[in-house]
Amino acid sequence: MLEYIVEMEHIQKSFPGVKALDDVSFNLKAGEVMALLGENGAGKSTLMKVLSGVYTRDSGDISIFGETVTDLTPKKAQELGVAIIHQELNMCAHLSVAENIFLGREMTRSGVLSNKEMNSQAQKILDRLNIAISPEIIVGDLAVSKQQMVEIAKALSTNARILIMDEPTSALTSKEIDDLFAIIRKLREEGCGIVYISHRLEELQHIVDRVTIMRDGRYVTSMDFADTSMQEIISNMVGREIKEKFPKVESRRGRKILEVKNLNAGKLVRNINFELHEGEIVGIAGLMGAGRTEMTRAVFGVDPKESGEIILDGKSISIQKPMDAIKNGLVLVPEDRKKDGLCTKLSIRENIALPNLDILCGRAGVVNRAKETAMVDQTVEELTIRLPNAEVDAGSLSGGNQQKVVVGKWLARNSRVVMFDEPTRGIDVAAKVEIYNLMNRLKQSGIGVFFVSSEMPEIMGISDRILVMCDGRITGEFMAEEATQNRILECATKFDQKLNPAASL
Ligand SMILES: Nc1ncnc2c1ncn2[C@@H]1O[C@H](COP(=O)(O)OP(=O)(O)OP(=O)(O)O)[C@@H](O)[C@H]1O
Ligand SMILES: [Mg+2]
Repeated sequence: MLEYIVEMEHIQKSFPGVKALDDVSFNLKAGEVMALLGENGAGKSTLMKVLSGVYTRDSGDISIFGETVTDLTPKKAQELGVAIIHQELNMCAHLSVAENIFLGREMTRSGVLSNKEMNSQAQKILDRLNIAISPEIIVGDLAVSKQQMVEIAKALSTNARILIMDEPTSALTSKEIDDLFAIIRKLREEGCGIVYISHRLEELQHIVDRVTIMRDGRYVTSMDFADTSMQEIISNMVGREIKEKFPKVESRRGRKILEVKNLNAGKLVRNINFELHEGEIVGIAGLMGAGRTEMTRAVFGVDPKESGEIILDGKSISIQKPMDAIKNGLVLVPEDRKKDGLCTKLSIRENIALPNLDILCGRAGVVNRAKETAMVDQTVEELTIRLPNAEVDAGSLSGGNQQKVVVGKWLARNSRVVMFDEPTRGIDVAAKVEIYNLMNRLKQSGIGVFFVSSEMPEIMGISDRILVMCDGRITGEFMAEEATQNRILECATKFDQKLNPAASL
């Protein structure tokens, strides 16, 4: 029997100014889950895009199911049984779930699109995956996590034998992650080979058989997961040891900066009250759907408020739109970078400069280039954003480096309060520490930092104070020292009986 269903050898791939893959080898067996690991920009997505025919390699050999393939196109790859779930969601927001699943392979009856047939086939796939979404819903109306599940359904609808998942869990709830793992185990039993890319290293133990590690576009090593340790994996990825995963600094808790009083906005923001002081980091914990993102959006003025008061430095301010918040020194680093955070077609320089034009423009309204260059250089350096130069499209950066640009562009301002929504999603271990250090620097300079996160270790490791939300309300508050995972979870599941009679059963 064939030992490897995928063999890639000496793969090279360059983009203008970057050697993304330099002599990389990779292989995969039937019936195994292979984790592909490496820091942001290591070349993981590029290698998998080469395997799925999205990018053409410059040189190197590829064989799939023992067949040497020379010119690999996405269609050819699909025929050979390769399916890929991309890191960035690739859905057509205005089409239905079924239309997205069958995009490019639409079903017809006598030359006419058969929506009925597609809906019923899509329903079968969704049922098989235990995904409770109607095939007729318009994808743009679904939450990111649900869109991700549709993406997975789409990949599996082609009867893939080689399934590549690039950061599939970055937007899923823990229940959805469990469902996904169940699907992965089932596919593995059926003999599929699965490539699993994730920065959530704690997930690996549940599903992974082997790991392949890349660094700076090069192959580092492959190991059986059982024979290695997290320490070894991380030092191979980063090229050094990471001593402290959650660096915490002390700082004096100063005056009250922000006070939110009786805030109401829609179903998921109900009578919210909290305050934030100078020099403190407040973490917002909760399950997906608890209303954490909605709350930050209402405060920042993205969504309308029904009632409530926002007091900044003792003064009641009116925030009707994000610009009002920004002018008052309150910024939000959003959750969905592709939709809200980044203009992928603009350069990195433009992305960083755009929200800061008020600072960068002189009286005549002309951008001061020297100031702009200094701001861009400083942001890139502080966050160690890896890029060939600041003129390339933001969309060409690796996923994690895009996230750093989104975070970075707000830091150039003299803000009073910085709110982060899932700031480390899709970011590698070393870069996470950089983001934490940055939050710490903000805190030490007297800024109030407010962050939403679904990663419990991060909430407990970085916050000075923790608020917990459930059903749009704040259901718990702890000082970091007194918080435990259990106490937080208990508050995160205090469902509102009136709103959710079944949820607490
Ligand atoms: N279409 C492109 N045009 C130009 N450069 C690109 C393109 N795609 C990737 N690159 C560059 O290739 C390198 C590898 O990127 P890749 O997306 O493969 O990294 P990654 O390992 O998937 O990182 P992450 O964990 O952040 O997703 C990066 O330097 C990136 O900027
Ligand atoms: Mg990637």
